[in-house]
Amino acid sequence: GDACKLVMLGSAGVGKSALVVRYLTKRFIWEYDPTLEYAYRHQTQVDEELANLEILDTAGLDDSPCYESHLKWGDGFMIVYSVNDRRSFDEVKVIKRTLDEIRKSRNVSCVIVGNKSDLDHDRRVTTAEGEGLAAEHACAFFETSACDGGAEIQEAFHELYREVRRR
Ligand code: GTP
Ligand code: MG
Repeated sequence: GDACKLVMLGSAGVGKSALVVRYLTKRFIWEYDPTLEYAYRHQTQVDEELANLEILDTAGLDDSPCYESHLKWGDGFMIVYSVNDRRSFDEVKVIKRTLDEIRKSRNVSCVIVGNKSDLDHDRRVTTAEGEGLAAEHACAFFETSACDGGAEIQEAFHELYREVRRR
């Protein structure tokens, strides 16, 4: 069938590209290379089902001329913040509100991801706050680390795929 279109959203530098690359290659990128826009195709198995994913990695800037078209294009959205960056957490609410407005629905498939959980010493957002925000928006929630993680990152992508399939 058609590919399931997933879009990475979130403030600059939260680790959107690192998560995608970790998911697809099991590798971690230390360098910070601000993304313009990059699309990946990936075929995988989710719960015995063959899944065709198209993952759009964006710069996540809401002033980008393509921002609205990304919000219209996707079937599912991974909204990422960084646990050591409070502003990126607040930005999740703004992104979700914009998405609801553009899609004219509060029922668009989303998962919320608190990344950089390895930077626990520098944490500015608690796990409970992340869970609370996700519950408020009826989204699944994951804390991840693109540098030491693996299983939770895969689970976040697969759960987003399941959410899209359910709706
Ligand atoms: P834009 O494309 O500019 O929107 O940024 P982005 O969200 O794609 O962030 P990117 O993946 O480029 O990561 C930004 C920086 O954070 C890089 O230096 C990464 O190596 C680092 N980084 C990403 N994920 C993690 C993580 O889980 N832990 C730590 N410690 N660093 C991370
Ligand atoms: Mg990027």
